[in-house]
Amino acid sequence: MTQYKMVKTLLTLSMGAMLSISALAKPTVMVVATGGTIAGAGASATNSATYTAAKVPVDTLINAVPQIKDLADVKGVQALQIASESITDKELLSIARQVNDLVKKPEVNGVVITHGTDTLEETAFFLNLVVHTDKPIVVVGSMRPPSALSADGPLNLYGAVALAASPESKGKGVMMFMNDTILAARDSSKRINIHTNAFDSQWGALGMVVEGKPYWFRQGVKRQTNNSEFNIEDIKGDSLPLVQITYGSDSMTPVAYEAYAKAGVKAIINAGTGNGSVPNYLVDTLRNLRQQGMIIVRASRVQDGFVLRNAEKPDDEYDWVVAHDLNPQKARLLTALALTKTNSTKELQRMFWQY
Ligand code: DGL
Repeated sequence: MTQYKMVKTLLTLSMGAMLSISALAKPTVMVVATGGTIAGAGASATNSATYTAAKVPVDTLINAVPQIKDLADVKGVQALQIASESITDKELLSIARQVNDLVKKPEVNGVVITHGTDTLEETAFFLNLVVHTDKPIVVVGSMRPPSALSADGPLNLYGAVALAASPESKGKGVMMFMNDTILAARDSSKRINIHTNAFDSQWGALGMVVEGKPYWFRQGVKRQTNNSEFNIEDIKGDSLPLVQITYGSDSMTPVAYEAYAKAGVKAIINAGTGNGSVPNYLVDTLRNLRQQGMIIVRASRVQDGFVLRNAEKPDDEYDWVVAHDLNPQKARLLTALALTKTNSTKELQRMFWQY
């Protein structure tokens, strides 16, 4: 065998060996723990709803599901240990910065964030808007603490790691994973506060994970992650522009709106009845606030559907914005992010159509 052929054979063999090693090498998935019920502890196994959230450390969560190690090389980061209803801009920005740093590492293939379910949808939506990556980011929680009978957290965590480890999950935007179901961060929310099938989207799930294998059925069409004009790297400090929500009902008063204005709130998301309705006796209050510079966004307290522009009220004439299909809590985050770039209601409305 000539020297040339020998070198060529050796090169081919070493390439083959490298390929087989890389094929055997498991993906690296980072688990960023923030607290919540998935890390909760109850007094007894029958306490499925009475417990303390945010108790169990990340390594204990990971070690409680040894099968995860068959899916990926998993490393834990204890970013926070908090019940998610207590997350403020400070914690939200910290989570986003830590996730952003992790996805920039070449050796990291995906990130799972364990999180309380109360504001899981806000964190997932925010990451979807500000983290520029096509790597899978999966936010997962549980409705029962690990100490409870039939706890849902371990299998939720297993499925979330399977999702984050799968190459097919790339470019799908930030996902939420609960109860075997893959949900888009953009339009999924907690709709039942005491069942394990707590989360859903009116536009349907993206897919499912069954026995560690993702099955895909649809994809989102809105701007997200790499296609977003927002970037966590552009946001300085540990707070966002102050945006608050008012809740529509019968017999309302202008007191809350006026108090928000006095407190320096930059925009109000009005979770109105029906199609984002504003009672006639409050129109002047909101119009005056708009004329003083307050942004007014008409959202709806109704879980499904979307708010139409100029249908319920003359939004063009009043210079009000509509939240489209985003629920009030997500409309609040998009508006706060928008206000880091613009005060234009025209630009803000464009963002509600696009994200
Ligand atoms: N305190 C709630 C939270 O941390 C518990 C709900 C849960 O995580 O399922 O969001």
